[in-house]
Amino acid sequence: MISKKMEAALNEQIAVEAGAHFTYLSMATWADAQGLEGTANFFFQHAAEEHEHMMKIVHFIGEVGGRALVPAIKKPEEQYKDVLDACEKAYAHEQQVSTSIYKLVTLAREENDYVADEFLRWFIDEQREEEVLFMRIMDRIKLIGTGGQSLYYIDKELARAHAEAEAAEAAEGEA
Ligand code: FEO
Repeated sequence: MISKKMEAALNEQIAVEAGAHFTYLSMATWADAQGLEGTANFFFQHAAEEHEHMMKIVHFIGEVGGRALVPAIKKPEEQYKDVLDACEKAYAHEQQVSTSIYKLVTLAREENDYVADEFLRWFIDEQREEEVLFMRIMDRIKLIGTGGQSLYYIDKELARAHAEAEAAEAAEGEA
């Protein structure tokens, strides 16, 4: 049975993951409206992943005898200067998510909640992968440059990142 403190903290994380889902959804629709199909697909997929993260926590709380609560979500930003701006914000957002996951791990250990500690290990790996992904994308965008003609190549870069993520997910599903 989960402690009330751990249950409340995991419920806060549901709101964090749902917020990430909305943030990436907003980035996706912004990119879509700019005609940046590769970028839009990349962020749509990322939004879907955040929804999966949220659902993992929802089901975990239920499994350990707690009650997952549906949170109110703040409206995300709607406008981005350019793709680099969106990626920088996504990276900063992921760093915040990582910090909240680390706090959860600390709490799980303080509470001797080995089950939650083990459950959260997946999220630590996931956060590392996401931070690395956005760092790489930001580096490539900086190499390409942000002028008008660069946009085509930046969008291709995001399309490539999207295809790689889809392939990785398919491989994970087969494993
Ligand atoms: Fe689920 Fe990217 O944080």
